[in-house]
This record gives sequence, C-alpha cells and structure tokens, in this order.
Amino acid sequence: MEKSLEIHTISKIDVCRGQSSINPNGLQLLADLILTKKDKRLDNDEWSTHYEDTEAPNCKMVDDIVIEMAKAFHAATGFQLVLDSMWSHIHEKNMSTTIHNHYPVEISAVYYVSVPEGSGKLLLHPHHNKYHLATVPFEPKEGMFLIFPGSLEHSVTRNHSDKPRISLAFNFNLYKEEDK
Ligand SMILES: [Fe+2]
Repeated sequence: MEKSLEIHTISKIDVCRGQSSINPNGLQLLADLILTKKDKRLDNDEWSTHYEDTEAPNCKMVDDIVIEMAKAFHAATGFQLVLDSMWSHIHEKNMSTTIHNHYPVEISAVYYVSVPEGSGKLLLHPHHNKYHLATVPFEPKEGMFLIFPGSLEHSVTRNHSDKPRISLAFNFNLYKEEDK
C-alpha cells in the first residue's frame, strides 16, 4: 500500500507593494536629479556588486519617499523600518541585473522613478525551497514601491527601451515597537 506524505507549509514570503503620492512632474524632477549623479558610482571596481549603483540624490523628495514607505510598512506589519543605506539604479538600453540578494540586510525596498515601456521587470526568486522553485515577476510602475526580505533573491530583466530605467534601492533594519 502506498503511503501518502503530508506537507506542512511553515513559512510564507510577504512582498509589500505600495504607491507613493509623488505626481508625474515630481517623478520627472527626481529622475533628472538622479541622472545628474550617474557618474558617481558606489564602487569603481567593475567586479563589485555596487559597480552599477550610483549615489542617490540628497533631497526632500527622497526623504519623503523613505518616510512614506516606512509608514505604510508599519501600518501593514506593526514593524518599524530604519534606513541603513540607499542608492540609485540606472539601467541604460540593454542593461539587466543578474540574480542576487541583500543578505544579511533584513529588509530591502525598491522605488520606481522612471520605467519606460519595455524597460525590464523585477523577478523574485524564492529559491530557499529547492523542491518548490518559483520565479515571480513584478511589473514596475512609476511611483510604485516594493518592500521585501533582504534575503530574497531577485533580478531585473533587460531594458529594451532607448530610455533609461531609473529606480532607487534601499536597505533597512527592522525594529519591533518593544525594541526601541
Ligand atoms: Fe537588489
């Protein structure tokens, strides 16, 4: 007689998606600001994982995005996000980002500033479970943000547009109310 196997699912991965209140004019201004720093690489070593990352602009709009994301996350989960680091990510035509994660960072986020048509999807690869592999695509929209565990593998498909795809990336530490 065949024995059946019980499967107990013990974990889930929450990806939080939100939309900021910045209007299209504000997003255009932010895109222009980010592009003024496109030569300010976080690391000039082309083998570094930060080679294609550039300095994020130091401005109120970015501060407001961080506050808006942290407030939305707190309202949804009861956890506080405290900013650890941030940078800009500019994909020129034909650029893509290979699979990676931000471990040991607890929480990562991405904010989409400019996503021309055909400029690339975010793919999430929750591959910690080798017998339940999945690749989950997220279609970026301008003004949209995603917050997810820093250990979650992700990649970005190729930018087929002639225009740059521009996003901001963030790493956060996570606090519960009682940790404060
Ligand atoms: Fe990343």
